[in-house]
Amino acid sequence: MSKRFYITTAIDYVNGQPHLGHAYEKIVADVIARARRSMGQEVFFLTGLDEHGQKVEQVAASQGKQPQAYCDELAQTWKAFAAKLNLTNDDFVRTTEPRHKQVVQAGLASVNAAGKVCKRSYEGFYSTKEETFLTDKDRRPDGTFDPAWGQVVEIKEDNYFFKLQEQQQWLIEHIEKNPSFVCPDSRRNEVLGFLKNNTLEDLCISRPTARLSWGIPLPFDPEYVTYVWFDALVNYISIPAAHGDESALPAPHIPRSTPGAARLSLWPADIHVIGKDIVKFHAVYWPIMLKAMGLPLPKQILVHGWWQKDGQKISKSTGNVVDPVAVIDEWGVDAFRFYVLRELDIGPDGNWTDAGFKARYSAELANGLGNLVNRSLSMLKRYRDGVVPPRHDDLATFAAQTSRTTEALILGNRLQAALIEIWMLVTRANQYVDQTAPFKLAKDPAQAKRLDEVLYTLAETCRVLAVLLWPFLPGTAAKIYSQLGLTDAPDKFSKSTWGVLTPGHRIGAPAPLFPRRDA
Ligand code: MSP
Repeated sequence: MSKRFYITTAIDYVNGQPHLGHAYEKIVADVIARARRSMGQEVFFLTGLDEHGQKVEQVAASQGKQPQAYCDELAQTWKAFAAKLNLTNDDFVRTTEPRHKQVVQAGLASVNAAGKVCKRSYEGFYSTKEETFLTDKDRRPDGTFDPAWGQVVEIKEDNYFFKLQEQQQWLIEHIEKNPSFVCPDSRRNEVLGFLKNNTLEDLCISRPTARLSWGIPLPFDPEYVTYVWFDALVNYISIPAAHGDESALPAPHIPRSTPGAARLSLWPADIHVIGKDIVKFHAVYWPIMLKAMGLPLPKQILVHGWWQKDGQKISKSTGNVVDPVAVIDEWGVDAFRFYVLRELDIGPDGNWTDAGFKARYSAELANGLGNLVNRSLSMLKRYRDGVVPPRHDDLATFAAQTSRTTEALILGNRLQAALIEIWMLVTRANQYVDQTAPFKLAKDPAQAKRLDEVLYTLAETCRVLAVLLWPFLPGTAAKIYSQLGLTDAPDKFSKSTWGVLTPGHRIGAPAPLFPRRDA
């Protein structure tokens, strides 16, 4: 059993509607998952929902619902959202599932047995909204707490703490020795700066049931439930464990996967895709938790930036939102996937504008790719009755170079750069149509051979493009293949080699991929 390429996303808080930021992260992970599969790797792509905690408990209560019933309802919306984005996730975790809860408890038992947990009294400030303890360091210069923390209350209670002292040095060394552990570099530097300039305070990993009951009970004290982050992070190993991956098990005694179920080898994760706000949890707490549980660390934490809309924070309360479902219903899922991937590189912050979306749709999708495929196939239909002429290699070298570079960029998670590279081939092929002017060649019987050459070159370029685009725009890639009359899928990167279309093959019916819209 060989280890699969294992990629995860952050699991979204169930309370709330899926928005642009959630969509972007899941699409980034999906493109990487699809691309790796296309390149022949076995992949496991995990996404899902974070369902415990005070906020969920409170919202459910305000709606007169039991928290589980409330989560069950919302989980349907989120699963439908994943399908709407055309994600190829292999599993969908919900932290309220027994298969997850038992691994969280095993993890807690394991760190407790390792002597990493202590109980002590805490007296101080607590943000109910963020479910986190605050100290004087979190105060603003005027002594008040930022309103982003919501209501801040003073509490005194006994809690369990995960000891973090003496953990800094090895983690600093690990990050320094493994330059791709946190990517991009700006985030890596941020984590290193944090670790070098601060003393880690022990992490409170419990909440008394008297204050919060919607959580996973601590295995060593039923009067407490697990702090949401200790619960949520464990999803990355609980699902491998549920699929029988022994290397994801924190303790030897928890039940194995369902008898007879296939056993997968997944852990350690190859990539955790997350947003910039949760870097500390993933690059500091999570590695320390794993080490305490005796498990290997993930290979990479890939951090993306945050989207704004029209230069302002996305916020439901101010109405400054992008509804991915509405955009997809109007423009199609591939147009949405294209815009977010092409507009924003993985790392910096991005800005959605409706005008920018429409401009890219029109220039790059409708007039760029769509026009190329439509005119190439329509001319082949018109001038050669849809029958592929003998092979010709006019753009073969250019296409081969595009494939090689695209492959390298994808393997380096440079998805925006890969799209830019692929569009150089789109642009080159559109220029080629203008330069060779097949519509003029068609009028001159003496140019029949040249017309054959041009038509083959264009049809084959469209085919290669479909293969390169498959991870990004799977529906569009499939449509190109189908319009070319091909019955297989463009889902193997090896098919991007020039010369796969065979002379004499009859193509299907051309149809616009991205209909032009009036502005
Ligand atoms: N439940 C935690 C994650 C636990 S992972 C073990 C959480 N959930 S969240 O719903 O608030 O955020 C989920 C992901 O969406 C995070 O990676 C977050 O950075 C990302 N985004 C939320 N808003 C975003 C934008 N405006 N832009 C881009 N991504 C953003 O945090």
